[in-house]
Amino acid sequence: MGVNVFKNEPFSDYSNPERKRSMEAALDLVASQLGRDYDLVINGKRISTEGKSVSINPSNKDQVIGRVAKADQSHAEEAMQAALTTFDWWKTVPAKERARVLLRASAIMRRRKDEFSSWLVYEAGKNWGEADADTAEAIDFLEFYAREMVRLAEDQNLTRIEGEDNELSYIPLGVGIVIPPWNFPLAIMAGMTAAAVVAGNTVVLKPATPTPVIAAKFVELLEEAGLPAGVVNYVPGSGAVIGDYLVDHPKTRFISFTGSKEVGIRIYERAAKVQKGQIWLKRVIAEMGGKDALVVDKGVNAKEAAQAIVTSAFGFSGQKCSACSRAIIHEDLYDEVLNHVVEMTKQLTVGPSHEYNIGLGPVVDEAAYNNILNYIEIGKGEGRVLVGGGKAEGNGFFIQPTVIADVDGRNARVAQEEIFGPVLAVIKAKDFDDALEIANSTEFGLTGGVYSNDRFNLAKAREQFHVGNLYFNRKITGALVGVQPFGGFNMSGTDSKAGGYDYLLQFTQAKLVVERY
Ligand code: NAD
Ligand code: ALA
Repeated sequence: MGVNVFKNEPFSDYSNPERKRSMEAALDLVASQLGRDYDLVINGKRISTEGKSVSINPSNKDQVIGRVAKADQSHAEEAMQAALTTFDWWKTVPAKERARVLLRASAIMRRRKDEFSSWLVYEAGKNWGEADADTAEAIDFLEFYAREMVRLAEDQNLTRIEGEDNELSYIPLGVGIVIPPWNFPLAIMAGMTAAAVVAGNTVVLKPATPTPVIAAKFVELLEEAGLPAGVVNYVPGSGAVIGDYLVDHPKTRFISFTGSKEVGIRIYERAAKVQKGQIWLKRVIAEMGGKDALVVDKGVNAKEAAQAIVTSAFGFSGQKCSACSRAIIHEDLYDEVLNHVVEMTKQLTVGPSHEYNIGLGPVVDEAAYNNILNYIEIGKGEGRVLVGGGKAEGNGFFIQPTVIADVDGRNARVAQEEIFGPVLAVIKAKDFDDALEIANSTEFGLTGGVYSNDRFNLAKAREQFHVGNLYFNRKITGALVGVQPFGGFNMSGTDSKAGGYDYLLQFTQAKLVVERY
């Protein structure tokens, strides 16, 4: 197969006038396509439903992105049957051919990169840079998992003995339910789906409620890339109505979930129950929330550390599972770092995400908006609000980036619970050991970071800071496919390490065949 070594898709530089014009043209193109209807796609057939969910632009509540069909349980069943029938032959398609579909899909997405990013701007409220990074990551997942499947299909390394041929191969599992989140509505959704199908499984894809149109666009792209009907079945609908039904289904072989801790636990528990007629134990891949901390040791450049904190805390309005929601600072440097954080946060602009160079767009929907504002009110009783503290102007779900200082890192709710918005708790630590202890004091373990010049403290953090992705002397967001495989410990999930060399194994089972000569 004629592929080069995997390389990450470069990010766009919109200060380049040509790139800026191209993005503006794509935004116009997508704006002209807003408000259309999107059907379910089951076995390649478009199915309209009477009830629709309306996807709106979080930057402008009056703008409809699309009206999307809503699957009920009978549609979920139809999708399951389509996926089951298709699995019988899709599993026999050679790995290279399955991989080629992903490579073609990535080529098409690369050609239409700004267009996909524009859908992210309008439907998820991402600013240009965040949208571009999401699209680049989706391209990376397609490219990376295609190559990985080809590698897994090669002869596997076994100890050879005389007189026997021993062969180990990775075969698919069956029908998987793919349940992605809305915060990387292209990259994570595409990565989870692509990994499942390239490994030879078929999929029922239930997109996240706030971002179904982006998922519909991806399903269209897969069709264009030549993915046969029935391999991915698109069934947007309520988690409560069809989510439980699909998770409980006796023919479901695995569930690939990324989202909140609460829903992840629900899925994990339900999937553990063996249903009548079920002849396997369901596999659950669950990547969940975070309460990620950046620890700042004494003796570092306060401004650099503050920049990393602000970038990690407020990128995409803090709506990344990897976002820094706690800055834990050595008391010797506390005031200095805090002052820089406050000054830098005050410089951030908040506004509609389609405008060029906006710092923070809106949060995703009304439920998130109310939940975050509620946490800010709680935070007012748990610390000193130094920046922000409420809503921001505009006809969307805009919230001011908010810094709450002097928070009790071990007990305050804003230091322990995932808020998933632009709210940073700043915590003073007595010394480096105290800082690490506070960092480890939540139930989560996704990302974490340390700023330190002390090699012994870095070594201590390497060993003791219990998170899946630990970063030293840099921001804690923006893991790159193939470079920084991503996944968390404890209540952050099953540490599946998306974008890593072990990831596809979770979508396969290993079969060993021995032939005696
Ligand atoms: P969510 O849990 O509300 O929803 C995730 C998905 O689950 C959606 O598709 C939703 O429709 C579906 N769902 C809801 N109820 C269901 C049910 N009963 N059965 C089956 N599916 C159901 O999460 P969200 O708000 O979409 O995403 C934000 C969360 O995701 C945050 O907690 C964030 O930290 C986490 N996240 C984690 C990672 C990671 O890699 N660890 C990455 C991105 C987001
Ligand atoms: N993979 C994303 C990041 O690292 C969530 O920010």
